[in-house]
Parts: sequence; C-alpha cells; structure tokens
Amino acid sequence: MIRILTTNLSLLDNSQIEAYLTSNSLKVCVVGIGRIGLPTALCFANSEFETIGIDINSELVTMVNSGDYPLKDEPEFDKIFENVHSQKKLVAMTDISKAVSECDIVLLSLPTPMNEKNIPDYTALLSVGKSLNKLLSNGQIVIVESTVEPGFIENELLHTIEGPNRTLKSGVDFHLTACPETANPGEIMKDFKKLPRLVGSIDEKISSIVSQIYTHVFGVEIILMPNCKTANAVKLTTNVFRDINIAFINELALLFEKLGIDIYTVIEAAKRKYNFQAHFPGPGVGGPCLPVNSYQYLNSSKKIDNDFLKIVKDARKINENMPNHVVDLLSNALSESNTPLDKSTIAILGVSYKPNIHDAQITPSEEIIKILIEKNAFIKIFDPYFTSQVLFGLTTEKSISDALSESDAAILITGHKEFQNLDLKKFSKTMKNPVLVDCTGLVKPMDAKENGIIFRGIGRGDI
Ligand SMILES: NC(=O)c1ccc[n+]([C@@H]2O[C@H](COP(=O)([O-])OP(=O)(O)OC[C@H]3O[C@@H](n4cnc5c(N)ncnc54)[C@H](O)[C@@H]3O)[C@@H](O)[C@H]2O)c1
Repeated sequence: MIRILTTNLSLLDNSQIEAYLTSNSLKVCVVGIGRIGLPTALCFANSEFETIGIDINSELVTMVNSGDYPLKDEPEFDKIFENVHSQKKLVAMTDISKAVSECDIVLLSLPTPMNEKNIPDYTALLSVGKSLNKLLSNGQIVIVESTVEPGFIENELLHTIEGPNRTLKSGVDFHLTACPETANPGEIMKDFKKLPRLVGSIDEKISSIVSQIYTHVFGVEIILMPNCKTANAVKLTTNVFRDINIAFINELALLFEKLGIDIYTVIEAAKRKYNFQAHFPGPGVGGPCLPVNSYQYLNSSKKIDNDFLKIVKDARKINENMPNHVVDLLSNALSESNTPLDKSTIAILGVSYKPNIHDAQITPSEEIIKILIEKNAFIKIFDPYFTSQVLFGLTTEKSISDALSESDAAILITGHKEFQNLDLKKFSKTMKNPVLVDCTGLVKPMDAKENGIIFRGIGRGDI
C-alpha cells in the first residue's frame, strides 16, 4: 500500500503541488495520535491520503487499528473514524522509523506539558526530533502542531533535528513549519472546519506549500505568519488572554461576594456593551492548554527578565488560588449548618476541567479534593464522564444519587450538560445535609434556597 520513496515537495511549483494533492499522492505521518493528533490524522486520511499515525502508546495503536476509538466525548468523531477505518486509509504504529521514510510530510502533535515546577517540558518533541535526524533525507516537511513557546522551534527543535554535527541541513534535507493547533476539546471536528490555521516557516516557500495542503484538507482560511515564532505567539496569546480575563472575573467574584453583588447579573448586563467580552468565574483554570500556555510565556520572559509579564504571573496566582476559595465557601456553608468539615463527607460533582469532555488534566477538582482530604474530609466523586473509575486514588460513583446519599455537602465543580436543570428537591432530600457550593453558575441561589439548601456560589453575593 505504501511507497518507499517520498516526494520532495519543496521542488514542486504551485500547480504541481495541486496536481499531487488532487491525485491523492501525498503520504502523511502524524506523530502523537492523542486528542489533537488522531482527529488530524483522520482528516488527512479522509481526504484520501495514505496516513500513518505514530504513538508510543501501543494500546492506543492496537485500539485504533482494531476499529475502536478513543475520544467518545468528541461530537462527529465516530463518523469520520468509522469512514476512515472502513476505507483502510489510516494505519497506526509505534515504530517511527518505518513511517517517516515513506512520508512526504511529518506532523508533530506531541504533548507539551509542564513539570512540577511549572517549567515547560518539551521532552517528547526533542526526543522525536532526535529520531528524525536519522530518518529525514529527502526534503520532507516537518509541521509542528504542538503548542510551544516562541523561538523553541528555531532555537531548539531545528538544531536537534539537524544534529550536533549538522548531519542534516534545514532547508535542504528537511523543512520546518509551525502550524499550531487551536481547536477546543469537545468541539474539535467543528473547529477543524471553521477555525483559520496559522502557518509560519523557516523558509517562506514552505509556508505556501503547507497552506495549499491545509486548504485542501481542512478548507479553512490560512493566516500566513512571517515565521514560526510569530505563529506560536498568536496561539499563546489567544489562550493566555483567556487565562488573564478569567482571573480578572475571578477576582471580581471575590469582591462581589463581599459587596453583595451577583457576578452573573453583572456579566449579563456588561455583555450588552459591544466591546465587552464575557468570561465567567470558576474554581480555577485547568486542562493541558491554558495554564501551560501562561507558563510557556512566563518561561520565555524569564529568559529575558524575571519581572516581565506581571499580569500573566498574577493571573496564574489568582486562578491557582480558586480551589482554596471554594473550600472556604464550603467551610462557611457547613458552619451555617453546624457541621464541621473535619470527618464530613463531601460529594464532588464533576472532575473534568471543562464541561462535556472526559479530561481531568490539571483539573481544579484535583486540588480541591487534595485540600479537603488534608482537612480530614471524606470524598465521594460523581462525574458522568468518569463513572466507576479510579481517579486521584478514589473510585468514582455510578450515579449522582450514590454520591449525594450520606453526604454532608456537595460541590458542583464542572458545568456538564448532565448537571443542568438539577432536581434540587430530590438533591436536597438525598443528602444527609443539604449544603451546596456551586462553582458553575448553573444553580440559581434563590432556587437552592427555596428547596431548603444552604447555598454558596462563586461570585454570588446576593444570598
Ligand atoms: N488538547 C487540547 O485541547 C489541545 C488543543 C490545541 C492544541 N493542543 C496542543 O497539541 C499538542 C498535543 O496535545 P494533545 O492534547 O493531543 O495531547 P495528548 O496527550 O492527547 O496526545 C499526545 C499523544 O502523543 C503520544 N506521545 C507522547 N510521546 C510520544 C513520542 N515520543 N512518540 C510518539 N508519540 C508520543 C502520547 O502517547 C499521546 O497519545 C500539545 O502541544 C497541546 O498543547 C492541545
């Protein structure tokens, strides 16, 4: 099925590239087939290109090849997966050396997390970069879709791929491009069809080739960037903008609780002003993107001057302190019902870092649970996306009733659709002690009160 020789796309003109694409000749390798890489690989395969997905997770590779799929929380993912699987256009494997020599383009969709000191960890990209030094030869285009700080591609990845003795030369043996992915989990297939793509390369000609390829596959607008670092700066700026604005709203939430003002009433009215962009308070900002991206910018600034980017630093502090605030609200509510937090049972409703997805990476719930356990509370967890699983060392409950029964209080952490329109009467009757802390804004304070619930909510100063 797969050819041995690759085509050096950089030697083709626009019309030859077009012909290559329309004859379905492109061979694609996607390294890292997780939340972003697998849907990306499926889109290339669905465009009739032979596609190889590489991952070090052999269970995932077996699963994908067998026709089963992860990401069951992604709408529209099942259709494209089943279509591609039946056409046999995507093969997954663990061995990168077999794949790269057969592909014209290599997409890197590898994780870029941070370590326990909040320093960005580019181990996966650098280790694959080292392997690529032995595997690239014919001007293949390496496209970095992972989120990295500006300059990482030019200053570190490029030299890693070239090798210490420059056995490979960028611009000759391979080409390097940044095309940072900006899709949102839970909306990835939709976002792939509508969000513009940012393309910036070391060599301008390559950007135009990559743009042609991405236009062919995704059919979206391409925003040409002058280089890789500017493309990465755009990606970080959009996410860090959100982190900072959520921190601002969280800070206001703390103030409004003391002033007796309801933050949701304020946001709803403020939205009527054309240049206000609504952000909402919450128990913290989690996931593999927003907090990490703020630290990526802080890491960039550290290399220049430690005191740069004060707003980003403060935003992180505010958002990282929200779990403590949630526990303060809980203690306050419990004291109204004369129940000590020590040895009480707390139902945690929602562990995902955002609504409607199965993902608990860097989730504020984990920190809230940790603080509660340190305070000797017993924890019961219910999340419709994580039923009967072991999470943070605890087995999650099968149903919300199982979590609420015998509980002294509940904390609604994630605004999953399953938690909208909660039956508060039933909620109140099921609990040993009807105490609720809402981090989501889904429960109206008055409704809770009318159902005999002792209620606290982030930014709810009107109770
Ligand atoms: N998840 C998101 O919301 C999102 C959105 C936009 C961009 N991004 C960025 O996209 C990149 C990928 O994120 P993700 O959420 O898909 O991560 P993920 O953890 O879901 O997937 C990464 C995959 O890479 C594999 N992997 C790790 N090391 C490897 C190696 N050395 N060789 C081969 N495979 C390896 C892992 O097993 C995993 O399956 C990150 O830089 C992330 O910041 C993520």
